[in-house]
Amino acid sequence: MAYEHWSLDDIDWAAFEPAKVDPEILKIIKAASMVEYNGADYAIYLCNVFPDDPEFQDAVNLWAEEEIQHGAALARWAELADPSFDFKSSFKRFTDGYSLPLDASTSVRGTRSGELVARCIVEVGTSSYYTALGDASEEPVLTKICRLIAADELRHYKLFYTHLKRYLESEKIGKVKRALIALGRITETEDDELAYAYFAANGEGEVYNRKRWSKAYIQRAAGYYRPKHLNLGVAMTFKAAGLNPQGRLASWACRAGYWAVQRKAKGLKEAA
Ligand SMILES: [Fe+2]
Ligand SMILES: [Fe+2]
Repeated sequence: MAYEHWSLDDIDWAAFEPAKVDPEILKIIKAASMVEYNGADYAIYLCNVFPDDPEFQDAVNLWAEEEIQHGAALARWAELADPSFDFKSSFKRFTDGYSLPLDASTSVRGTRSGELVARCIVEVGTSSYYTALGDASEEPVLTKICRLIAADELRHYKLFYTHLKRYLESEKIGKVKRALIALGRITETEDDELAYAYFAANGEGEVYNRKRWSKAYIQRAAGYYRPKHLNLGVAMTFKAAGLNPQGRLASWACRAGYWAVQRKAKGLKEAA
């Protein structure tokens, strides 16, 4: 079956139910809308890292359009849920304070395969994340948007995985290195990008403090994961890292992952 891309018009915006908006989910959706909308910059970076691969560049440019659309859909929902939220000005605050290494000509991961491993991790991570948010949201329009996005992210994983297999034939990076890159990218979810997006969306008039805003973001995001959301993510991460997704190490990682997200979410529950 050929894939047909959805558009913002496919979403039944009239079905929006304001009373069902969870204010905590709203805060992280605002942040997610900005990171997604920044997809054009990612395409520039990736095209610079793969300058002699037009096939990959074409795929990346289509991919970026989908990421930007994710941002647009989430932004429109956030503006419906909170009419005082002005996506445009928040996005400007985000891009004024955060930018990607657009002048890089080689991957920040060292090799092209490493870059593709990292991309796979991001895509499977976002797919699990939106599935978790869609399941947690009682507001039907947001649930629908999250499901559409989660399906796109899974396809994005497959796209980058296909190119990863191609590059692994020539670059031959070892499994240990692949696993280390994967691990490195997972821990980066606590990086400046999400923290700064969360600040740009929710911290008007406040001063940015990386540690504080990163914690505020992670505490909220972590609370929506259930074991099933992590299990698929772990399996696909293992696959991208060249490890056995069905092995004992993978099932240990599922349990450890769930323990870790619960621990991160705990602080917020205690504060509430
Ligand atoms: Fe996305
Ligand atoms: Fe994606």
